[in-house]
Amino acid sequence: MSRTTPEDLNAVIRQHSEWLAAQLHAQRENLFPPDASKTMRKFTSGEAAALLGVNDSYLRKLHLDGKGPSPDTTPGNRRLYSAEDIHALRVLLEKTARKPGDYLPGRRAGDHLQIIGVMNFKGGSGKTTTSAHLAQRLALMGYRVLAIDLDPQASLTALHGVQPEFDLPDGGTLYDAIRYDNPVPIANVIRKTYIPNLDLVPGNLELMEFEHDTPRALSQGNAGLFFFRVKEALAQVDENYDVVVIDCPPQLGFLTMSALSAATGVLVTIHPEMLDVMSMSQFLRMTADLMDVIADSGADMSHDWMRYLLTRVEPTDAPQNRITAFLRTMYGDKVLNAPMLKSTAISDAGLTKQTLYEVERSAFTRTTYDRALESLNAVNDEISQLIQQTWGR
Ligand SMILES: Nc1ncnc2c1ncn2[C@@H]1O[C@H](COP(=O)(O)OP(=O)(O)OP(=O)(O)O)[C@@H](O)[C@H]1O
Ligand SMILES: [Mg+2]
Repeated sequence: MSRTTPEDLNAVIRQHSEWLAAQLHAQRENLFPPDASKTMRKFTSGEAAALLGVNDSYLRKLHLDGKGPSPDTTPGNRRLYSAEDIHALRVLLEKTARKPGDYLPGRRAGDHLQIIGVMNFKGGSGKTTTSAHLAQRLALMGYRVLAIDLDPQASLTALHGVQPEFDLPDGGTLYDAIRYDNPVPIANVIRKTYIPNLDLVPGNLELMEFEHDTPRALSQGNAGLFFFRVKEALAQVDENYDVVVIDCPPQLGFLTMSALSAATGVLVTIHPEMLDVMSMSQFLRMTADLMDVIADSGADMSHDWMRYLLTRVEPTDAPQNRITAFLRTMYGDKVLNAPMLKSTAISDAGLTKQTLYEVERSAFTRTTYDRALESLNAVNDEISQLIQQTWGR
């Protein structure tokens, strides 16, 4: 019997990583040719009207009167609006709005920047899906949004058309702005996306360095208040945004602690299944213990709100329903009313690195798409209301 030649594990793993990276790169080149950076699709007049909160007939009138941006018209005379058009309409409509903020809901004088940390150390609880849809929806609603990928796995980054291993060879993640020696201004690592009002700080494996650097800096006594690194970096661009959404890694390390210390709002995603709920109990206890330590050093741990979001919910699944009921009884209104339903529309969109807001409705079964969209909008609109409440509206 011939024996297989032993191979070094590291060599095999490296080879596999290279194959995979090359395949993924090729796949992306196919989906999105190299120079064709990702773009946002156009919105039907119905979608644009819904986003703006006006009647379609009113939009049509504006168009006929030559007011505001001129949408594309299809041969069938349907109007298609770009995300930029919708933003221009917001600016126009806000000028004559009945109430200030009807069309541009962002900060006014005295309102503080909202920093939302999306976390749970349970992998796959829907953090990235939640962060991406929240950030995009808020941007489409007219908020000025900064999305930060704090996860070395960089899924949020990939979802926004930046490939972590190819497009960031010389840094460019938040690590550059929070590292202990020679941090750069955070503005250097912020990039525009294909959605107006949405900027991104991408992530990649380099973020791991922060987990390694911090213990060293602490032992040398020059970490300062390490948990304020993210908060301090964000303070530099405070004026430019209304909301920051931070997608955290699935672990309770120094990165997550820094996000938690920066956050004014905390969203804990939870998939309502027994194992997930059990691990969440540990996550909450460890978080509380760590926050005690930070609070002992004199830091202010107050925040505006904390909510649980039920993710990948299947309303016909009886065990899930029992756990959902259990969580709602225990935590009351700390659990968001709207759950994020499990939907093939969301996972299928993810396969082509898109959110549900980016894909064309025609690519899906209508009812599937509509149900998923309704669920995501309900979740995001509930969070928008929390933001507004924080600003006293
Ligand atoms: N509502 C949903 N319906 C269907 N699939 C979903 C839904 N939400 C998330 N998923 C899928 O579940 C998987 C995990 O989701 P996601 O990446 O958002 O979790 P995560 O908490 O960010 O994971 P990680 O801990 O690895 O960062 C993904 O493949 C995603 O497409
Ligand atoms: Mg994730």
